[in-house]
Amino acid sequence: MEDSIKTITQIKKEMGDKLVILGHHYQSDDIINFTDIRGDSLELARQIGQLDAEHIVFCGVYFMAESAAILRRQNQKIHIPDTSATCPMADMAEANRVEKTLEILQKNGRKVIPLTYVNSSAAVKGVVGRYDGSVCTSANAKTMLEWALKQGDAVLFLPDKQLARNTANLLEIPKSKRLVLSEGVIEGDPELHIDPSTAEDKQLIVWPGYCPIHQDFTLDSIKTIRENEPEAKIVVHPECGQEVVKASDGNGSTTFLIKYANEAPAGSTVYIGTETNLVNRLASQHKETKVIKPLAVSLCEDMGKITVDNLAALLKDIDNSTPVDVDEEIKKTARIALERMLKVCA
Ligand code: 13P
Ligand code: SF4
Repeated sequence: MEDSIKTITQIKKEMGDKLVILGHHYQSDDIINFTDIRGDSLELARQIGQLDAEHIVFCGVYFMAESAAILRRQNQKIHIPDTSATCPMADMAEANRVEKTLEILQKNGRKVIPLTYVNSSAAVKGVVGRYDGSVCTSANAKTMLEWALKQGDAVLFLPDKQLARNTANLLEIPKSKRLVLSEGVIEGDPELHIDPSTAEDKQLIVWPGYCPIHQDFTLDSIKTIRENEPEAKIVVHPECGQEVVKASDGNGSTTFLIKYANEAPAGSTVYIGTETNLVNRLASQHKETKVIKPLAVSLCEDMGKITVDNLAALLKDIDNSTPVDVDEEIKKTARIALERMLKVCA
């Protein structure tokens, strides 16, 4: 590890403006120390078009690097230190099944607009672009769902059922107008798992994916805190279940959670329901003035696959490493889907 730290420091100095390292807030402190830009998924996506560096190294999970590859300029190369760092939730929506689902839902002549959470593959974003849909992140899901509802007769929100429900609650979409698809569509032929007649009168059709990390936060733990420390505040990420979100004092993207911790008054206690690397970092940053605690310990193993050792190995041979890229056909429509979001949320 010591050698890797020296290598990264040295190569960063040598490459100067030719290299930019981007990092998601869930990365470990070891990696965060080397990032030039940190952010939530929306902020990182917004950065790509503004960067002049030839090599952009993405410390996060694969869909983030893929989104960067979709938005990159011709002369830019996107890298990720470990290509096996994928998001399990993104893996719950496979492009062909999503497309088949849209075909089934549109059979009765209704226009169903797909809205995919950015935690999805480039191929899924490509399908979404072709079906006049767009992308959202946890920071803009409400705005994007409002937008999508105006574009057709119904919206297929994917892959995160929790973000879909939490956003639908904000927009007060009645329960009778929502349908969560059977979990069978994640692995099986949608034809066998969707009865189109059950979707006919629905405004919001929800793909049944979820983030395993954010399922660890429970209503019971919130109840215990409320009983034992009634003055403590609790904020969570909207990938948590709706009972957890409703019982919290606030919810939002990782940037929202950071801002909440930063702005909490001195002497206060804040429990945060999101990935533990971020919560521990906030706890140590504020340890002199306030208490920040994880609602439960929950680490994203895939985010943790990025290490100083594989970052150093990538940087050592960056000119010969194969950059992350996306098939040209997929890229065209995936870019349309992403750019719709960036335009609506400009
Ligand atoms: P943010 O966009 O809020 O950073 O979330 C990304 C993510 O993967 C959360 O699990
Ligand atoms: Fe995916 Fe959850 Fe990890 Fe975020 S925390 S990258 S949604 S598995």
